[in-house]
Amino acid sequence: MFISFEGIDGSGKSTQCRRLAETLRQRGAVVTLTREPGGSEGAEQIRKLLVEGGGERWSPETELLLFMAARRDHVERLIEPALARGETVISDRFADSSRVYQGLVRAENRKLVEELHRLVIGIEPDLTFVIDTDPSTARARGEARGGNEDRFESLGLAFQQDLRAGFLALAREFPQRIRVIDGGGTQDDVAARVLAALP
Ligand code: TYD
Repeated sequence: MFISFEGIDGSGKSTQCRRLAETLRQRGAVVTLTREPGGSEGAEQIRKLLVEGGGERWSPETELLLFMAARRDHVERLIEPALARGETVISDRFADSSRVYQGLVRAENRKLVEELHRLVIGIEPDLTFVIDTDPSTARARGEARGGNEDRFESLGLAFQQDLRAGFLALAREFPQRIRVIDGGGTQDDVAARVLAALP
């Protein structure tokens, strides 16, 4: 099974990915836990180009192509081989992040994301959890975490609010695949909601 977690920056999805991986391992599954952008050696190198540096470093189209190149490498080298071995793959972000982030930056790019996805990626998770967190809460978490990967967080609160709305709209578009999880409360609360939403 291929599971992805999505949400705005600082939504708590990375913690929930780890917690679900631990729980499934305790239940006897072999779990590959991974993330985007990155997850494979080549994709991690592309990640550096994307998350470091100023917001104007790449045009929206170049940025989208870099995300796609990273995802292609990730799918080829890590996700598909793990699924072929019968493992459960949990990815911290996947194509929905491109649909929402790159689709928001320029409306017509949403269509471009779909076309490129169909041409060069082609696979979707079996199940996607959108961890739905209030942007003010998420921002406070991000600031507490620090680090130099601040390119996206620096886009501001209004952008994060639009991203949140974008993920919720996507959940309505793909109701079979996407489950919206309330990201409020403690990590335990959210983890329990994720487990309850597992098929
Ligand atoms: P990530 O490391 O998940 O950041 P965080 O842990 O703060 O959520 O992702 C880095 C940034 O890349 C994040 O702001 C989302 C963005 N992103 C896109 O814009 N498009 C994509 O396709 C992906 C995978 C990520």
